[in-house]
Amino acid sequence: MTSSSNPIEQSFELAAERCDDLTPLVYRRLFHRHPEAQAMFRTEGSEPVKGSMLSLTIEAILDFAGERTGHFRLIDCEVSSHDAYGTPRELFVAFFAVIADTLREILGEQWSDEIDAAWHKLLRDVAAVVAQHAE
Ligand code: HEM
Repeated sequence: MTSSSNPIEQSFELAAERCDDLTPLVYRRLFHRHPEAQAMFRTEGSEPVKGSMLSLTIEAILDFAGERTGHFRLIDCEVSSHDAYGTPRELFVAFFAVIADTLREILGEQWSDEIDAAWHKLLRDVAAVVAQHAE
């Protein structure tokens, strides 16, 4: 049983019961689906960056889908820094879908309709935040 009533939180809790570290799964999926993303990371020394980018993104997602205490603002802030890294905005948004699909695969039958609906809404809302960001 999970403790949370928030479907997005639930999806992370259920995944954590089955998988210690999402990092390799998320980046494998990202680079498979968007091979161009690989070259955006430095060849050496980018492993810690990838880990911290994912964990900060997850904190932002949980806050965005939950209490909105402030971490969710990372999403808007990082649009600018990623423009500078050369990450296209579509790819930036796609990172969230990659996280969702990784969770869906881990959860299997535990991926409920409620979780599915909550993730679809979240992905739409994130796309809207990014689209509203000024050039
Ligand atoms: C596929 C899409 C993305 C790509 C290709 C990408 C690429 C990068 C690159 C190249 C760096 C920095 C590298 C460096 O300093 O060497 C970085 C850092 C970072 N990214 Fe992303 N990014 C993506 C999506 C996102 C998203 C959606 C978020 C969160 C909303 C995010 C949050 C961060 C943060 C917080 C850092 C700094 C990490 C740290 O140094 O602690 N990124 N990203």
